[in-house]
Amino acid sequence: MDNLTPKTPKLLIVDDQPHNLGILFDFLTRSGFKIFVALDGESALQRTEVTEPDLIILDVMMPGIDGFETCKRLKQNPSTQDIPIIFMTALSDTVDKVQGFKLGAVDYITKPIHQEEVLSRIQTHIKLYHLQNQLQTKTEELAHLNQNLEEIVQARTQQLIEQEKTALIGRLTQGIVHNLRNRIQLILSYKCLATGEMTEEAVSPETTFAYLEKMAEVTWDMSQILDNLMHKSKMDHSLQLTSLNVNDILKKELDFWQANLQFKHKVKKKYVLDEHIPLIPLVYTDISQILDNLIGNALDAMWDKEEQTLTIITRQDEDNLYIDVQDTGCGIPPENLSKVFDPFYTTKPLKGEEKQRNQPTGTGLGIYTCMQILKGFGGDIKVTSELNKGSIFTVRIPKQNNG
Ligand SMILES: Nc1ncnc2c1ncn2[C@@H]1O[C@H](COP(=O)(O)OP(=O)(O)O)[C@@H](O)[C@H]1O
Ligand SMILES: [Mg+2]
Repeated sequence: MDNLTPKTPKLLIVDDQPHNLGILFDFLTRSGFKIFVALDGESALQRTEVTEPDLIILDVMMPGIDGFETCKRLKQNPSTQDIPIIFMTALSDTVDKVQGFKLGAVDYITKPIHQEEVLSRIQTHIKLYHLQNQLQTKTEELAHLNQNLEEIVQARTQQLIEQEKTALIGRLTQGIVHNLRNRIQLILSYKCLATGEMTEEAVSPETTFAYLEKMAEVTWDMSQILDNLMHKSKMDHSLQLTSLNVNDILKKELDFWQANLQFKHKVKKKYVLDEHIPLIPLVYTDISQILDNLIGNALDAMWDKEEQTLTIITRQDEDNLYIDVQDTGCGIPPENLSKVFDPFYTTKPLKGEEKQRNQPTGTGLGIYTCMQILKGFGGDIKVTSELNKGSIFTVRIPKQNNG
């Protein structure tokens, strides 16, 4: 036997004629099968349950329940329905072979038995049966693997989304702390100046008044920042459509980036802003998030470069506003240009897997998220890049909101 049927195959032969049974029993035992026999349909059903044969040879003409009926009942029972059945008929029988096939039989043999032929039919069908079983097992294994894979992907996706959110919140918090701490420091110094604590000299009422005014200014500024933040934290897009000046959003965003040491100390900044761009109905957080992602990517691309220049341009044509975010970073090889828009495409290590100190980490959701946001109102992002020279990401925002 071959490796498809590793154990001795079991056959159940069902025939009411002991003589015929004897012949089959002898030659099939000699051919390497383990043989079980039954003399009628009823006992065939019982024997099948107990012996679990690999194949059944079933006489059609039998007293009591005949071969067809026996076959029907075997096919109705889930534990026996897959076992291949070969019908056996005498040459003189006038049975309807088609009916047998319809009932699920795989083959017919005729008595008197032609041994070689019977043997090869039996072998073929057992082989098929085992192949089918293997296929079934493999399919189930695959389905199981697939299920596992789906679960893993889902869990990983969730993890990455969480990481991206955490990163955003982290940058936001950094920005808030930086912006407020500086101003609080300023207020404290004005207070010293206003009261003369610093100089230990008498302070004129005018000077005191001037410093109080300055303090009020800074306080006003702080409340502006907080308002802006409230704006930032409201994520309900549909409710937040207001006429906005993209330059203003950009300036606030850049102010936030001052909290970042690389941005503040290493990066040369060039801003060329078209001061005539019109107000456009937009969601504040949409635009600030897009800018935040692109500026973040530009800094990441330049993090280990000596020369770091960030250029941001706002411009317009008849129908659109454009924001170019240009860096002098690592650039993107041409074959990867379109991949940057794919969710989860990242060339950065995941958080916790950095190889070098301060190495930027990524999730690959930044640009994808920007695109999703922009799609909402008919905008998009285009990129041009030169390896080891730098990249330009251009955001297009339609003047007519198509959202
Ligand atoms: N300014 C850029 N310069 C070079 N490569 C960039 C730039 N922006 C994005 N990329 C490439 O696109 C990838 C995807 O960016 P993004 O979607 O923001 O995800 P992440 O920043 O988390 O990796 C980055 O990992 C990087 O390979
Ligand atoms: Mg990014």
